Amino acid sequence: MNETIEKYKEYVMTGFVKAVQPIVIERAEGAVVTSDEGKEYVDCFAGISVVNAGHCNPEVIAAAKAQMDKLVHCCSYLYHVEAVANLAEKMAEITPGNLKKSFFANSGAEAIEGAMKLAKLHTGKTEFVALTTSFHGRTWGASAAARLTRPAWRSLPLR
Ligand SMILES: Cc1ncc(COP(=O)(O)O)c(C=O)c1O
Repeated sequence: MNETIEKYKEYVMTGFVKAVQPIVIERAEGAVVTSDEGKEYVDCFAGISVVNAGHCNPEVIAAAKAQMDKLVHCCSYLYHVEAVANLAEKMAEITPGNLKKSFFANSGAEAIEGAMKLAKLHTGKTEFVALTTSFHGRTWGASAAARLTRPAWRSLPLR
């Protein structure tokens, strides 16, 4: 048995979907991921959407490295950062209608939580409808809105 697969079994909490046949990915480029056995696969998940510019895209890596060489992180409440301002401006240009301001989050789950809070604030309502076989992330609200095996829909009180 592969050592990485063994360590996963022993030490890693994996998601709700069990891999039919675990594959250890060693590297990736563009749409192709390569296993530790040298086998190539087309990654139709695109890293589940987070690498939809392609794996190890040199332009993305160069931009990330250039920023990280200058500044990796600072408190987003206290400080303003040029790259954040520029991205927010770009988002305002490309999003539809009069959408103008962006809230930057660390993960999909955090974005979902933010959207749920905004929806509650805007509508004054306290329930959400979730579909079967849905997944929205691992935080409290996002996971409460996910349904894997329950009826086709269910209202979710979030008071
Ligand atoms: C549809 C959907 N929503 C939300 C999430 C949560 O994203 P994250 O893992 O970045 O919190 C995922 C992650 O796979 C997702 O597929």
